[in-house]
Amino acid sequence: MEKTIIKGTGRYLPPRLVTNDTLTQWMDTSSDWILQRTGIEQRYWVPEQGGVGSSDLGFEAAKIAMERSGWKADDIDLIIFATLSPDLFFPGSGCLLAHKLGLTSTPALDIRQQCTGFLYGMTTADAYIRSGLAKRILLVGAEVHSTGLDISTRGRDVAVIFGDGAAAVCLERMETDDKAGILAACMHADGSLAESLMTFAPASRENPRLDAKMLAEGRHFPTMDGKNIFKNAVRRLPEVAGEVLKKTGMPLEAVDLFIPHQANLRINQAFAKAMDIPESKIYNNIQRYGNTTAASIPLALDEAIEKGVVGAGSTVMFLGLGAGVTWGAVLYRFGV
Ligand code: UT7
Repeated sequence: MEKTIIKGTGRYLPPRLVTNDTLTQWMDTSSDWILQRTGIEQRYWVPEQGGVGSSDLGFEAAKIAMERSGWKADDIDLIIFATLSPDLFFPGSGCLLAHKLGLTSTPALDIRQQCTGFLYGMTTADAYIRSGLAKRILLVGAEVHSTGLDISTRGRDVAVIFGDGAAAVCLERMETDDKAGILAACMHADGSLAESLMTFAPASRENPRLDAKMLAEGRHFPTMDGKNIFKNAVRRLPEVAGEVLKKTGMPLEAVDLFIPHQANLRINQAFAKAMDIPESKIYNNIQRYGNTTAASIPLALDEAIEKGVVGAGSTVMFLGLGAGVTWGAVLYRFGV
């Protein structure tokens, strides 16, 4: 049977360390508030002067993942780039990354699914691989949030959460009858909640798409009904975890590690409680990176592999909920 396996991973964080205390110079907040409400202690942002886009961060992460996988750029059949903060309005960051990798005709696809971008990316890659359309897919999750946040007190509920970063995963087709690779996936979307977490402008439905009034009102910054998103996450994550397990007939206990999206430590703690699983089975690194959206799950995966928390024979569940709203889960087992 042809399955999709993770051949190698890599991550890259930009060098500018922004602690909770650093944020207090721009907005009325406190390190304690951020820590208690979100679990975040620090995050990394790109240099303040700009010039670094998501494809730049993605490029650094991709080079590491490819090196660990023994891939050259020419081996890649498809690039899938998940981001909500593309370098440009268009073309997609995947095209820019392909160029940085020296590729001139390899297809590149951007996924704009925010916090579930990596999950949608994995699912799409799995479909390409199992249908025979591609053998090796470079999947990247990368975000530069910092250049698009309202760091004044007006935007503090959103700005304190987000960090910049990237992670890449090399996905490869493998012939196996073993229960390895991507085992099952469940993806969902409910656009009725779109306005609970969004960036309004630039918007094609507005003419002009962005004007001085919108800029003055901060409509180019993300806004969030945090409580509503939180409530949805706490309800949907256990639901979708159960759904993906049911697809495979596996019991909850078969999962060695849950790697959830890193949106708020309290969401992941609530998930553990609702599922009645020990918190030691949930991988969290939001404390150090903040919410890196499409990068958060592969970033956590890369760390978990590096630390030996997961490896040969481990079963992992990736899951998350975010803007859209979209939510989903992917069940994966490392080959032995
Ligand atoms: O990855 C994408 C998906 N996103 C999520 O999953 C995020 C889900 N939501 C959350 O993580 C939380 O809702 C937040 C962390 C965003 C906010 O926490 P909260 O406990 O829901 O706080 P709140 O928005 O209800 O605000 C409580 C109070 C308010 O003051 P009053 O009205 O009670 O006087 C806010 O103005 O906290 C105030 N506040 C802050 N205070 C200090 C909001 N942001 C801040 C801040 N520093 N940064």
